Amino acid sequence: MNSRLEQIRESERKSHIEMYSNEELYHSESWLKKPIKTVRDLIPMFSSFPSLKVLDLGCGVGRNCLAVANEYKNVDCSIDCVDILEIAIEKLLFYAEEYGVSECINGIVKPIEGFAISKDSYDFVIAVSALEHIDSVSSFVEKLNEIKDGVRNGGVVCLVINSEVSEYNKSTGEGIPAQFEVNLPTDEMQNTLSQIFNGWNVLKSTVQSQQYDIPRENIISDLRTNVVTFVAQKEI
Ligand SMILES: C[S@@+](CC[C@H](N)C(=O)[O-])C[C@H]1O[C@@H](n2cnc3c(N)ncnc32)[C@H](O)[C@@H]1O
Repeated sequence: MNSRLEQIRESERKSHIEMYSNEELYHSESWLKKPIKTVRDLIPMFSSFPSLKVLDLGCGVGRNCLAVANEYKNVDCSIDCVDILEIAIEKLLFYAEEYGVSECINGIVKPIEGFAISKDSYDFVIAVSALEHIDSVSSFVEKLNEIKDGVRNGGVVCLVINSEVSEYNKSTGEGIPAQFEVNLPTDEMQNTLSQIFNGWNVLKSTVQSQQYDIPRENIISDLRTNVVTFVAQKEI
């Protein structure tokens, strides 16, 4: 691993361990307070599917995939949940038990770039604030192509990806390197997605500017980002 990648991974690991240790899933004051609206809005789309195979890449403690499991636990629903952090998958499995959906959830501790997606395997692929942590731009593009091939006809992708991220030391205002392995300009991110998913029915394509504080090594970072949301359905 090169040193920039190692440094980002270590910083991300520390900040997520801290967040997952201190924040409770679906607690009203947490950033984990509910599934993201885009996923909530998509859940009813699968009500006519006889069975449901889902992939959540960079699933964290299950904020999004557990909502899908909860809705479809009484049909044949299986969700592969991938995260690089052991603590994320441990907590995911704990919450799955708590919400009575353990049978639907397969927790997998692995980097996204090391998780091979078989062709025509999934009806719904979710990746929220995760694909930008793939180890390089070329692996990122490769993974998007794998996702495209991994979705069955009629299936849906829900991708939420940070772009054009900048970070500043909150107490000094000084710029610091953005802790994202893939940090594409917003236009390039949107063009990459629309080229790869060319021919799919685009259900949502938006960019939202956000600013929030995030703990980094010994400092609080003021992070600014353009969040790209891309939802598309493969032709039936
Ligand atoms: C901002 S959190 C989002 C979690 C979840 N998708 C959600 O919306 O609640 C990013 C997650 O991606 C995971 N992650 C970061 N880099 C990863 C990688 N290369 N492979 C797999 N997971 C990764 C982190 O451990 C973390 O749980």
